Amino acid sequence: MSKVIRNGTIVTADLTYKADVLIENGVITEIGQGLKGGEELDATGCYVMPGGIDPHTHLEMPFMGTYSSDDFESGTRAGLAGGTTMVVDFALPNPGESLLDALKRWDNKSTRANCDYSFHMAVTWWGEQVFDDIKTVIQERGINTFKHFMAYKGALMVNDDELYASFQRLAELGGIAMVHAENGDVVAELSAKLLAQGNTGPEAHAYSRPPQVEGEATNRAIMIADMAGVPLYVVHTSCEDSHEAIRRARMQGKRVWGEPLIQHLTLDESEYFNKDWDHAARRVMSPPFRNKQHQDSLWAGLQSGSLSVVATDHCAFTTEQKRTGVGDFTKIPNGTGGLEDRMPMLWTHGVETGRLTPNEFVAVTSTNIAKILNCYPKKGAVLVGADADLVVWDPEKRKTISADTQQSSIDYNVFEGHEVKGLPRFTLTRGHVAVHDGEIRCQEGHGKFVAREANTTVNKALSTWKELTAPRPVERTGIPATGV
Ligand code: URP
Ligand code: ZN
Ligand code: ZN
Ligand code: ZN
Repeated sequence: MSKVIRNGTIVTADLTYKADVLIENGVITEIGQGLKGGEELDATGCYVMPGGIDPHTHLEMPFMGTYSSDDFESGTRAGLAGGTTMVVDFALPNPGESLLDALKRWDNKSTRANCDYSFHMAVTWWGEQVFDDIKTVIQERGINTFKHFMAYKGALMVNDDELYASFQRLAELGGIAMVHAENGDVVAELSAKLLAQGNTGPEAHAYSRPPQVEGEATNRAIMIADMAGVPLYVVHTSCEDSHEAIRRARMQGKRVWGEPLIQHLTLDESEYFNKDWDHAARRVMSPPFRNKQHQDSLWAGLQSGSLSVVATDHCAFTTEQKRTGVGDFTKIPNGTGGLEDRMPMLWTHGVETGRLTPNEFVAVTSTNIAKILNCYPKKGAVLVGADADLVVWDPEKRKTISADTQQSSIDYNVFEGHEVKGLPRFTLTRGHVAVHDGEIRCQEGHGKFVAREANTTVNKALSTWKELTAPRPVERTGIPATGV
């Protein structure tokens, strides 16, 4: 049956105007005045926006001896409750495992998704198999983004030679490189030193990962990406040190994007200090929460456009899972939740405070990432022909965030007690109303995989380095005889 969203104000990344939206077979078929449809959704007083895209989730991911608690069912349900209609999850190969075998596991898990999804492929080791698989993953599986961990030494981390090899392969095939940018060697040294000094609590996690380790790794990744000629997406940018490197690279014409998380924008390092063990451990994630100066830098980046996307890095662990690290902070599973709260928290702390316009809100929660990932305007748009992944946003609706009412399967919420103003009245996933005024009407398995093509034309415009250093044979005379 067709649906029409009536009497709302459409807000996209570049336009604000009053119009109705007609939806047929999960797609937007008409935008205009006085439209009629089988089912009418009243958007009076609301903004009709592209549904959020969270490009950074870890659902049911094996990590640090356990699995993250939210799976594709509860994770996407949480997303939809907060206005997010697409997630992009990281498929992680085990050491030595083919990328395609890892993808099969992610294919199986994601059949339960309530909304559309895509994958990024992680490169956790390097060899001929990975070199070959990258081509298949890009050309046959529709995945054009590849994540590299510069931290988690001894587990997921790859070294510079591996980074450079992988980045070159991606440049050749039109892929985008992604990095978790922290200097894993320094983190390992600092962690060992802190433990040896008797600093075993969760606050030591923050001390082991100062902004410098992130700034150094971001700079290094940018330079290696430039030498390889590949676009670079820096996940969970948490501090000025990393933001500065991204800002400078962008000013130099390099295709580099930074992704702050809603947690880093709204929670600070005081969460680790003068709090009980569980409170602090529940907030252990990498990079850790920072001080107010770093937060201000992230907000400034969103305002000026030097940072492009707000994500969650949703990787939720229960209190019981976190307690594996009692007596040794390096064993606390790293990660926090946020899928349900990203959009309301960003609206409350961004739009309500005047830091972001509603159009900028749409850009950083949906449209920018759809363009970067190459799924725009199927996603991230309110346009005829686009998927009807929409959120009807009520800017007057309020709630207090609480674990008691959340969709996530864990037993706490890092935003517990925060008041938010601005929540979905309806969330639609390809035309299906999954959320109506807080009532969840998800359909398990409704979500479909979104394939994304490589972008070979963009890469050609990337780096000046290759031009400058292309081998130029020199005709030389007067070469001394060898051995003289
Ligand atoms: O602490 C975090 N961020 N956990 C999830 C894995 C990652 O590094 O993104
Ligand atoms: Zn990471
Ligand atoms: Zn992550
Ligand atoms: Zn708040």
